[in-house]
Order: sequence, then C-alpha cells, then structure tokens
Amino acid sequence: MRRRIKEGFHGRQVSIGVRRDLSEPFTAPSARVPLAVRPFRTADLPALFPLTDAEIGAQEREDIAWRLEMVERGAFSSRCFVAVDERSDTPCHIQWLTEAGYSEVIRRAGALPTLGREEAMLENAYTPSAYRGLGIMPAVTALLAERAAVLGARHVVALIDEGNVPSLKGARRAGFWPYMVRVREQYCYGLIRSARFMPMQAAKPSD
Ligand SMILES: CC(C)(COP(=O)(O)OP(=O)(O)OC[C@H]1O[C@@H](n2cnc3c(N)ncnc32)[C@H](O)[C@@H]1OP(=O)(O)O)[C@@H](O)C(=O)NCCC(=O)NCCS
Repeated sequence: MRRRIKEGFHGRQVSIGVRRDLSEPFTAPSARVPLAVRPFRTADLPALFPLTDAEIGAQEREDIAWRLEMVERGAFSSRCFVAVDERSDTPCHIQWLTEAGYSEVIRRAGALPTLGREEAMLENAYTPSAYRGLGIMPAVTALLAERAAVLGARHVVALIDEGNVPSLKGARRAGFWPYMVRVREQYCYGLIRSARFMPMQAAKPSD
C-alpha cells in the first residue's frame, strides 16, 4: 500500500533499450581492479548490499529473492552473476543474464521486451558504492555478453532509465548502442499500468 501511494496518481518512466550485436568484433574494456566472474551465492549479499545502504539493500534483496524463486519455479531463465575483486575475493558487482522464453506473466509484470530465440538480456547491474567509478560495470557487462554468445545469443539487450547516466555510459563502453525506447505509465496509484516499446532511429553509425 505504501509503495502504491508513493507511486502517485500518474507516473511515467522512459527507458532506453540498448543492444549489442555479438557477431561483431569488440574488445572488452578492463576494470581498474582485477575481476573474476562467477555465479551468485547467498553469502555475497552483505558485501554487495552493506547494511549502511539499508534502503537500496532492502529493495535489491527483495528483487533477488523474487527472481531466484522464479528461476527455481522455471518461470524465468535468468542467471545471476557476481564479479569479485580478485585481490581480496570481495564481491563487487552483481548482474543478471536472462534468456528468451519467460512467461507472459513475467514479461508483463516486469514490462520486459519479448526476446527472440537468439536474444538475451542483461538486467539489474549493481556496483556497491565503494567500488563505483572503477569501470567494473562495463567490464562485467562485456564479459556477460560474451557468455550470452556461448549460450547461443546473437544479440544482447538491456533497458536503462533515460536519466541513469552512469549506466548509459557503462553500456556504451561495453559495446551497446540504443535501438528502442520503452515508455511505462501508471495511473490511479498503479491500478492501471502500460508499457510501450518503440524502435529508435539507429544510433550506431553502421546500422
Ligand atoms: C550504474 C552502475 C552499475 C555503474 O557501475 P560502475 O561499476 O560504477 O560503472 P563505471 O565505473 O563505469 O562508472 C560509470 C560512471 O559512474 C559515475 N561514477 C564514478 N564514480 C562514482 C561514484 N563513486 N559514485 C557514483 N557514480 C560514480 C561516473 O559518471 C562514471 O563515469 P566516468 O567513468 O565517465 O566518470 C552503478 O552506478 C550502480 O550500481 N548504480 C545503482 C544501480 C543502477 O542504476 N543500476 C543500473 C540498472 S540498468
């Protein structure tokens, strides 16, 4: 109820869809710390979302728990990865790689695009504040895009809020280009919701 009231009578959120063609050669950027990427473990949570960051931590933990449950139920083919700072084995980034085939219920709930068989999606990138600005997100995004290629994807997409400059920059550095816009709207405190996906004029010079 509190979340609904916070949403207000009308809300509008514009996100930029970015995409990378995995068949095109691309040199992945390096982070300014040595990184290793591995599957998420529950024990990673305190390092990723320190209790000092209570509000963000609570939201992210809720989302992780929901997604893990959906993955277990088979409603979501989504893999959660964590990057660790190899100097201290500290988890310093989390991101999800989602494959095509999620249910219509999940697609509508998350206002997600319909993915083709050769498409994958990167979602919910998060770097704890102590590790920001070190180029971790672009490096991990590029590494996960390569994992998507191994799983058979030809394109990887992601949705980023239009005002999220750090994320838009990071996606660009990881080889992603804008290709569509998603407009989500809600009325009556979230009782009515809509999502529209609109193709964009190609921003990439060769498209
Ligand atoms: C977006 C996010 C994942 C970027 O992660 P990152 O590993 O810090 O990425 P980068 O190191 O490439 O930094 C990107 C930009 O963040 C900004 N930045 C730098 N240091 C920062 C800091 N200490 N705190 C906040 N932002 C910082 C800079 O603008 C930087 O760009 P620059 O290198 O041109 O200066 C991270 O800011 C984050 O977790 N934000 C909250 C969650 C979020 O928005 N997720 C994205 C969902 S699509």
